[in-house]
Amino acid sequence: MEQTESGAAPPTLGVGMVGYAFMGAAHSQGWRTAGRVFDLPLRPVLAAVAGRDATAVRAAARRHGWAAAETDWRTLIARDDVQLVDVCTPGDSHAEIAIAALEAGKHVLCEKPLANSVAEAETMAAAAEAASTRGQISMVGFNYRRVPALSYARSLVTDGRLGTLRHVRVSYLQDWLVDPAFPLTWRLEREHAGSGALGDLGAHAVDLAQYLTGELLVGVSALTETFVRKRPLLAGAAPGGLGGGVASEAYGQVTVDDAALFTGRLASGALASFEATRMAAGRKNALRLEINGERGSLAFDLERLNELSFHDHTEPAVSAGFRRILVTEPDHPYLEGWWPPGHGLGYEHTFAHQARDLVHAVASGIAPAPSFADGLQVQRVLAAVEDSARNSAVYTPVPVPVAVPTPVPVPDSAPDSVPR
Ligand SMILES: NC(=O)c1ccc[n+]([C@@H]2O[C@H](COP(=O)([O-])OP(=O)(O)OC[C@H]3O[C@@H](n4cnc5c(N)ncnc54)[C@H](O)[C@@H]3O)[C@@H](O)[C@H]2O)c1
Repeated sequence: MEQTESGAAPPTLGVGMVGYAFMGAAHSQGWRTAGRVFDLPLRPVLAAVAGRDATAVRAAARRHGWAAAETDWRTLIARDDVQLVDVCTPGDSHAEIAIAALEAGKHVLCEKPLANSVAEAETMAAAAEAASTRGQISMVGFNYRRVPALSYARSLVTDGRLGTLRHVRVSYLQDWLVDPAFPLTWRLEREHAGSGALGDLGAHAVDLAQYLTGELLVGVSALTETFVRKRPLLAGAAPGGLGGGVASEAYGQVTVDDAALFTGRLASGALASFEATRMAAGRKNALRLEINGERGSLAFDLERLNELSFHDHTEPAVSAGFRRILVTEPDHPYLEGWWPPGHGLGYEHTFAHQARDLVHAVASGIAPAPSFADGLQVQRVLAAVEDSARNSAVYTPVPVPVAVPTPVPVPDSAPDSVPR
């Protein structure tokens, strides 16, 4: 057991998790690891996991190290040994579980996208706001903020190394839906997933664009497409993760997008472009982004997540150019607990970083980011994308909180066709 500097074991933070498949496994790994790697003020204890199938949830508890298994998330929330509820279920149950947990006095971590609609996300953000006055902490699981290279990228932007921002481009490409025989899992049904590649991948892209720039998107223009509109129904139980499971002979309707492309304008006037698809053959988890400013640029690819490319445009042109920063130095974000320089990290480490930051937030009472309000703002962008796509890609404003600066004025010479 870890000890504090005084030699005493830190107090515990009992965690209860709902859902135990893909994100359940990743979050379990994060909760198990964070306290062993980082010096934490509270020791996360994997108190109980909840699922609907008694045999499966007991097996998951054993595999992932949870002390108890529950078959009803309400029972999990009511447990005295659970102080934090971690929601790892599809979007259709986020609001109900998270709000119940907040009302029961628990801290909450909720997977992304925060909800399946803006209305749900608004209710969740209001519940989180009310709970914060009682000292409760809420956070959304946008884990890519916790890739060290991206946390470091954020500090380059805030330190002014890129200067005034001009462009943000983010693409998030996967290929597990290329095969038309891939069955109709919950991720392809609007009632469960809210949207398709848009909410699944586009939500990360939007969150990262807003996090890295420190600005909100104020409007979007979008195209979406569902290339394969009917898929085989599942023959048996739904598999976890991105797996397809067993297909039956019968077909059902795909009710979400396969791909979403959109442009956007940030509050400062910088322009952004986004692409989210699960139909990019050969691309497995290619989250790529580039930001261009007056003083420099940065670029990142999740498939090479220990690296950040940075170009300092203030250097003499003869020697300037993109250089590769290996983000594994002890002074880089989150690296203090890990391996010597060059001994890289991977996808799973982002969940340990997420758990670390959340534990610090609970111990200090300081609200962490991304908050439910941040999750709501992403949801508003997703809704504006869908509205725009329904209306032939018309530029669609995103409602922004009043404190955000309004877009830069349109110069008189700007062509009328440029939407604001
Ligand atoms: N942060 C990321 O990078 C990332 C990656 C994948 C998924 N996600 C998000 O995580 C969430 C879960 O996705 P996943 O990939 O783990 O899905 P999954 O299908 O692998 O697992 C879902 C789990 O929820 C359980 N479940 C479903 N409905 C339930 C209910 N009503 N009550 C209790 N349990 C229920 C299922 O039995 C399963 O254990 C989604 O919101 C998804 O968007 C985030």
